[in-house]
Amino acid sequence: MNIQLLLSDKIKQAMVAAGAPSDCDALIKQSAKAQFGDYQANGIMAAAKKLAINPRELADNVVKHLSIADYVSKIEIAGPGFINLFLNENWLAKQSDLALNNEKLNLTLADKPQNIIVDYSAPNVAKEMHVGHLRSTIIGDASVRVLSFLGHNVIKANHVGDWGTQFGMLIAYLEKMQNENANDMALSDLETFYRESKKHYDEDPVFAEKARNYVVKLQGGDEYCRAMWRKLIDITMTQNIATYKRLNVTLSLEDTMGESIYNAMLPGVVADLKAQGIAVESNGATVVFLDEFKNKEGEPMGVIIQKRDGGYLYATTDITAVKYRYEALHADRILYYIDSRQHQHLEQVWLIAHKANYIPSSLQLEHHMFGMMLGKDGKPFKTRSGDTVKLNDLLDEAIERATTLIKSKNPDLSHDELAAIVDAVAIGAVKYADLSKNRTTDYVFDWDNMLSFEGNTAPYLQYAYTRVLSIFRKAELSADNLAGQISLEHDKERALAIKLLQFNETVNIVANDGLPHVLCAYLYDIATLFSSFYEHCPVLSAETEALKQSRLKLAALTAKTLKIGLDMLGIKTIEKM
Ligand code: ARG
Repeated sequence: MNIQLLLSDKIKQAMVAAGAPSDCDALIKQSAKAQFGDYQANGIMAAAKKLAINPRELADNVVKHLSIADYVSKIEIAGPGFINLFLNENWLAKQSDLALNNEKLNLTLADKPQNIIVDYSAPNVAKEMHVGHLRSTIIGDASVRVLSFLGHNVIKANHVGDWGTQFGMLIAYLEKMQNENANDMALSDLETFYRESKKHYDEDPVFAEKARNYVVKLQGGDEYCRAMWRKLIDITMTQNIATYKRLNVTLSLEDTMGESIYNAMLPGVVADLKAQGIAVESNGATVVFLDEFKNKEGEPMGVIIQKRDGGYLYATTDITAVKYRYEALHADRILYYIDSRQHQHLEQVWLIAHKANYIPSSLQLEHHMFGMMLGKDGKPFKTRSGDTVKLNDLLDEAIERATTLIKSKNPDLSHDELAAIVDAVAIGAVKYADLSKNRTTDYVFDWDNMLSFEGNTAPYLQYAYTRVLSIFRKAELSADNLAGQISLEHDKERALAIKLLQFNETVNIVANDGLPHVLCAYLYDIATLFSSFYEHCPVLSAETEALKQSRLKLAALTAKTLKIGLDMLGIKTIEKM
């Protein structure tokens, strides 16, 4: 049930019936203050202006045409022409029951499921994932989970960096290592592997010559080079998949759509862009000049799509990828989770694809960009020696810190119990700290904050969840078979129920704008409202059995909402901690 949508539709109908234009918008918002009701229609003034009539008069007229008595118990016209709506408790109670009894909380699912491609994570081969990949990976994954929940057909595109001239030196080095160690190389430390191969390339001319030779051979499809290249990808992706698993991220090997899959299509795209007159020769390279972007000299900016030596670029691959995603994968919408520094790159890619008619304007292209992760000093997050932080090292530290913390709070846990709680809390804390910040800005990574059991953190929400469950344990009751119906008599019950029913509106924001912090803030509100309900409304010692059952049901709906919400964020819940 999407209350906002329901009210929007109804008020709009009444507005049109009252003479407003058919494209008017009721502008329904959740009210900021209780005195203004639960929801507010703010669209009357704009409609009245168009009609050149008094907004209060229009509001009066709209109210006369409204048929919402089933769910709204009081309607007030306020100020210049706001309509304040007070929801009916019985209806709210009934909706709460419906949500509790429905697997998907009775959410309104997508009426037209879309093919949505989510381009995220995208680490590079023969390099360790570092903190820079964390944001793309976990924000993208939250988006995937939410869109799938709503019934969309989501295609996860892990645009792995698996192609480029660096593969010559990587293959040469892999070969060298294989020759030196009789058995297969593990490449357990990709960072060292990459650094060493670069070092050989820079310092050893024979090695460098071989490496350059391998680049040409690889591009020509040489079998040996391809096999070695495959091996590098396999080793890297095996490690990355293990990291995804650790992170509770849904990406698997099948979701890998690396840059290399577009290789065979690149010459055709470049030739076509030339034939269409969109790309031109310039100093031996092939370039698209864009009037929409100016360079430092104020001239149209050139985007190189093929270098003088014949090599293709990152932009060429992305132009081809968007074309492919539309033509072959039938995308309706593509979301890119890439850091904000690549915004211009994407805009140019899309513009070129549009100019070439590879994609229609109806295709929704969205860059869900994000800022950087900063250290407490406000500078990019680095190790003490100034290196980028490897993602796995970061997670190791999280586990270590959470182990100390949980052990000190609860020294009697068994080994397995401890491990399960630590995993949920440590990984949850790191993810939540990121997901709960507005992704569009940089944020400061702070261990103490994220592992705190107070405030808007994963441990707080995970703990709140266990507290709700503990009510059922204490009463030796199952949340799955409660009797009777929810009734909302106390203010705190009502406030909690409304918030729980607003889950749908919250989830839609994440689905539309890819802003998981809105869901985090919402879950935090739920936990806070539940605390206050629990403080004021006795549950197990309620005056009557009916009241007890009703309150238990509200508790069950709270637990269910927290669990589903945290799951959408890719954060684990535990039963006890
Ligand atoms: N591999 C790139 C990097 O590490 C990110 C790729 C993002 N996706 C894309 N379609 N360009 O920066």
